[in-house]
Amino acid sequence: MTRTAIVTGAARGIGAATALRLAQDGYAVAAVDLSAESCAETVAAIEAAGGRALAVGADVADSAAVSAAVDRVAEELGAPTILVNNAGILRDNLLFKMTDDDWDAVMAVHLRGAFLMTRAVQKHQVEAGWGRIVNLSSTSALGNRGQANYAAAKAGMQGFTKTLAIELGRYGVTANAIAPGFIVTDMTRATAERIGVTFEDFVGHMAKEAAVGRAGVPEDIAAAASYFCSEEAGFVSGQVLYVAGGPKA
Ligand SMILES: NC(=O)c1ccc[n+]([C@@H]2O[C@H](COP(=O)([O-])OP(=O)(O)OC[C@H]3O[C@@H](n4cnc5c(N)ncnc54)[C@H](O)[C@@H]3O)[C@@H](O)[C@H]2O)c1
Repeated sequence: MTRTAIVTGAARGIGAATALRLAQDGYAVAAVDLSAESCAETVAAIEAAGGRALAVGADVADSAAVSAAVDRVAEELGAPTILVNNAGILRDNLLFKMTDDDWDAVMAVHLRGAFLMTRAVQKHQVEAGWGRIVNLSSTSALGNRGQANYAAAKAGMQGFTKTLAIELGRYGVTANAIAPGFIVTDMTRATAERIGVTFEDFVGHMAKEAAVGRAGVPEDIAAAASYFCSEEAGFVSGQVLYVAGGPKA
């Protein structure tokens, strides 16, 4: 039986790499992002590798859009029993400059988005008596200058994950979180731009800071997600795995 996975924020970066990896693992994959068009490249890469994929446009913070997206995935690919809540945004600023909108936008995508997606997908998981949920946290959950909103959301993802593990465990569903350190993506490229350094210098600095002496790549996170989604990870639940090239954030 082919299982179906949904990956949010799958148009690029960690989400795209995770969608590709899960397709390689043999799942049918729904790539969800703000527009279906933005997922075309991800879907093409999966299909070129012989996998099955569907591009779905939905804002994860929009309840009606999320319901419609999950219904469509169930109809066209099969009941989704794997969910990777990866969609995310940054609205960094020091607290005294952070606007109401900076706060609300980050909470909406990360926390409300993960909540809405998970609530819609758990129905299929409970029906199947099997499921895997992977939530993207961050080393920023431990605190990071200029990220009061993002750090709160990413710490919130950890509490959300542990509660899902407790509530859904009896239905064969596990929930785990991945907390990446610095990963080379458009998100961190935008951060370099915002603070006025070249991306090359930024990546070089972060590589020196990491115990393993390199920056992370999306595939590092996709590999961890692949493990959490696997059959053999069925006794691992409610955990937060720091994938950060070392023990420290
Ligand atoms: N890059 C890093 O260093 C890093 C570190 C720790 C955690 N993370 C987390 O990993 C996840 C992916 O990060 P990334 O670096 O690949 O980011 P990215 O900005 O490259 O990609 C994020 C994707 O999410 C999509 N998205 C944003 N808002 C959405 C919404 N409302 N509905 C649907 N899709 C939406 C974007 O369109 C984009 O395609 C995020 O949750 C991020 O917070 C990233």
